[in-house]
Amino acid sequence: MASITIRKLDSKTKQWLRMRAAKNGHSMEEEARLLFDQLQSNEISRQALPAGNFDSPSNKAAGVKQKTNSKSTPKAPSKTAPFSSEVLAGKNILLIISGGIAAYKCLILIRRLRERGARIKTVMTRAAEQFVTPMSVSALTAERVYSDLFDRDDEHDVGHIRLSREADLVLVVPATANLMAKMAHGLADDLASAILLATNEPVLLAPAMNPMMWQHPATVRNMRTLADDGIYSIGPGAGEMAESGEAGTGRMAEPEEILQAIEAMLDQRPKPLKGLSAVITSGPTREAIDPVRYLSNHSSGKQGHAIALALREAGADVTLVSGPVSIPNPLGVSVVRVETAEEMKQAVDQALPADIAIFVAAVADWRPAANADEKIKKAKGKSPPALKLMENPDILKGIGNRTKSRPALVVGFAAETQDVITHGKTKLEKKGADWILANDVSPEAGVMGGDFNTIRLISESGVEDWPKLNKQQVAYRLVDKIVGFFDEVVIEV
Ligand SMILES: Cc1cc2nc3c(=O)[nH]c(=O)nc-3n(C[C@H](O)[C@H](O)[C@H](O)COP(=O)(O)O)c2cc1C
Repeated sequence: MASITIRKLDSKTKQWLRMRAAKNGHSMEEEARLLFDQLQSNEISRQALPAGNFDSPSNKAAGVKQKTNSKSTPKAPSKTAPFSSEVLAGKNILLIISGGIAAYKCLILIRRLRERGARIKTVMTRAAEQFVTPMSVSALTAERVYSDLFDRDDEHDVGHIRLSREADLVLVVPATANLMAKMAHGLADDLASAILLATNEPVLLAPAMNPMMWQHPATVRNMRTLADDGIYSIGPGAGEMAESGEAGTGRMAEPEEILQAIEAMLDQRPKPLKGLSAVITSGPTREAIDPVRYLSNHSSGKQGHAIALALREAGADVTLVSGPVSIPNPLGVSVVRVETAEEMKQAVDQALPADIAIFVAAVADWRPAANADEKIKKAKGKSPPALKLMENPDILKGIGNRTKSRPALVVGFAAETQDVITHGKTKLEKKGADWILANDVSPEAGVMGGDFNTIRLISESGVEDWPKLNKQQVAYRLVDKIVGFFDEVVIEV
């Protein structure tokens, strides 16, 4: 059997085809095949098609390529630049540290920023020096630390203005109530506040303070003013405060979250998946035995969360359905937290329709048939209780085999400890998936909970071996493939 691949559909035609396919519960391939049939049998007229690729004879010639001997895939790799985490490479960040207890977290943030290739200059307020030493900051940034507005060496060429202008982003971590109040009122009585008033670069604040300070009407007013002035902020979150016995909202966003916010602000990459929606599952599920015990697995959620982030960076509208994990939510993604397989299924159903569905979560195959209301007690002389299990819903299979409103692309992960490819191929067929990303999760591979993954992408057309990559790189490579998938339609002829 031969197939044709339609490439370079313009975005208007692609969108039109996608909408039609979604409306009729078809994949894009099925919809395009139907359209050809209907055109051929004059069931629809040429006028029913959108202007665009269908119009131009030269486009037609360039865009439709005859293929032999393959079924519906493979799809060619995308022509857009591959996705990577290089947003921060070579970027200049001016970090202002003000005097809050959370200042120590700056040191971790500096490490993460430098790992990604950012150059960091730092300004510390006098109060900040009470919390972290300029020596630590200077050692980690490999730059001198600035703190004096009236520095004779720096101000001969109005150094505070230079510092405020040469950065790609001005970051205030932590941002004290005091410094934000000064910003809101345009005060400039030290180097940090003078820079913040003089800068014409984007500013991101990570406020951190006692909950009473955060709730104070003055702080609320100041935050509103700063937002109106176009200043960005992340956090604070809720949780325990450094002060003993205090809890509430005021805790600074974690360095990882701040990093994601910075990447989102500086990200100028193209958005090839703009207009598409995606639902991703991630992490383990927990199946209760009694109120204190459960069945689960070692999934950390790192792979699923990384994919959600990469899809969002490529412009997709992403819903992440996550089991219990201890990693931060990816920024800009709508997150639904669940515990059990049943809850995960319901959350996925609610997130549909979507163009893309990717099932990364390690969903428990079984759950205890009964969930005891009270903790099961050990009794002397009694043998341990027998656990009777029942099957959990198979979320991937349910979605992959849908006839109506099936996402255009359904991807499953196969976690195997032996015969990875054989089991992956069986899964592809049984679950109705377009692609299976099979990986070896035997303990010696270190995939579950670890940072790396070695993927075999199984599709109807064969098996692609990917090298060992970290989980974010796996995510970018997958997104690159997804971009390729939506760039073209392959039809069996
Ligand atoms: C132990 C201690 C912890 C503090 N933590 C915070 C804090 O988390 N957030 C905050 O806004 N102020 C905090 N302050 C108060 C600021 O240090 C104080 O308002 C200072 O003037 C801020 O100066 P700056 O904004 O120039 O850095 C703390 C003070 C002390 C003594």
